[in-house]
Amino acid sequence: MKTQTTPAIETAAEIPVLGSETALAICVSSEFVAPGLVDDDRFSFIRSLLENGGFKAEEGDSLVLNSIDGITGNSFRIILIGMGSIRDFKQSSIRDAAATAIREARAHHYKRLVFAPLETEVREMQGMFFAQGAVLGLYENALYQKEDEESVELESIILLSSGDSSAIGREIERGRIIAESMNWARELADEPGGALPPREFARRAAEMANEFGLGIESLTAKQIRELGMGGLWGVGKGSDEEPALIVIRYEPDAEAKKPASNEILAFVGKGITFDTGGISIKPAKGMEEMKADMAGGAAALGAIRAIGQLRPKKRVIAIVPTAENMPSGRALKPGDVIKTLGGFTVEAVDTDAEGRLVLIDGIAYARRLGATRIVDLATLTGSIIVALGDFCTGLFSNNDDWAAQVGNAASSAGERVWRMPVSDDYKKLIESSIADFKNYGGRPDATGAALLLSKFAGETPWVHLDIAGTAWLEHAAPHSPAGATGAGVPTLVELACSEN
Ligand code: BES
Ligand code: MN
Ligand code: ZN
Repeated sequence: MKTQTTPAIETAAEIPVLGSETALAICVSSEFVAPGLVDDDRFSFIRSLLENGGFKAEEGDSLVLNSIDGITGNSFRIILIGMGSIRDFKQSSIRDAAATAIREARAHHYKRLVFAPLETEVREMQGMFFAQGAVLGLYENALYQKEDEESVELESIILLSSGDSSAIGREIERGRIIAESMNWARELADEPGGALPPREFARRAAEMANEFGLGIESLTAKQIRELGMGGLWGVGKGSDEEPALIVIRYEPDAEAKKPASNEILAFVGKGITFDTGGISIKPAKGMEEMKADMAGGAAALGAIRAIGQLRPKKRVIAIVPTAENMPSGRALKPGDVIKTLGGFTVEAVDTDAEGRLVLIDGIAYARRLGATRIVDLATLTGSIIVALGDFCTGLFSNNDDWAAQVGNAASSAGERVWRMPVSDDYKKLIESSIADFKNYGGRPDATGAALLLSKFAGETPWVHLDIAGTAWLEHAAPHSPAGATGAGVPTLVELACSEN
């Protein structure tokens, strides 16, 4: 199956008459069914199913049932969606439920989906999360598979709600834009390394920037070297594929711009299109996942893709240092010392700790372009996976207020982040006897890496999001195929669009 274009997503107060190629998804909490349908005798069988254990309604559960007759004169296929306990219910819970419903509907070749949420009156933010989930649910990453002849496209998605439909409609639109941009980022990360070297990454970024009226001013390998970006140049030079620095700008409309605001929000994303480890080469097992080592860069670009459509008042720049980390006769050697754009020298004791080497030049370049606040995103360390698994992104910062703002944006956007320490208490991790710093010094490496980055952020409020665990889903889930997740995009969009 392939990702399809987003069909119309609308709301309706009553179950509409739509014909037989329609699936009705009903959210069910482990306590009871969707309140709006509880009083309807035709749905009493759901209560029986819960009582006799036929459906447990745990989060991620779904059950496709035969049609029942008599609903507004049509026969529908019913898809029960487990929501877990109402006690654990969050505003964002509807997101995975919507994605699961979409995936079930598509798997069973339905053309229309009517979705009955737990609450009859949907709150505005839930409209946003619903649309986000629906669009995320359309994503398929079988990019190189023959199209299934029986597959049909979903033509319409209807959210049952008695709430203010125009307010919900606006939120649905916002959710659609964010999720389409997540899917755009996911596809780049799911693309094999051979299909997406740095130049191709930059070309796709330019294509996107042109589509949404964003400014693009990427740097070539020659400019990277001449400017003194020794980190990005050093990592890239071992490959036959040239590195690049992708820079995309969003400028608010003149009349909307806050008077005399010099604030520039910069997103810096790690763009390693394939990470072999370089001369400090990685073991073969699992190395194929390193095609997604540019997920942070894709998220930074995905966020600005959404921002270009949502048009907030803040200026935003997305910067993606992109390179392929390869071993060769021209590659960086362990122990080599590089000169960076930020002015410090760094001893590359481990060429597999390459992400931090390209990011430090990206961060220094962001400050050179006048960034007043920085968020970097990177699949940076295996260490953060050891600490937080694939559920929470690690957040590191040099500024408590900025850390809190990014943390709040993440929680409004329905993403989990967990603050981790970074301070000079850990300075031994980056002390070198030959250069100003070294790029690796043992455990805890997620903090060591963050500490090196912090030296290049200087006084500028900076947050580093280590998404090594959250950017990639190891096993397929009811709401998503295995692979790239688009992690980080919702948080960055929320940051750019929130008022402070
Ligand atoms: N891209 C990896 C980090 C990574 C690991 C991301 C697993 C996603 C899943 C990074 O460049 C890397 O190789 N890190 C090493 C650093 C170490 C050798 C100093 C690591 O964490 O093992
Ligand atoms: Mn590496
Ligand atoms: Zn890497």
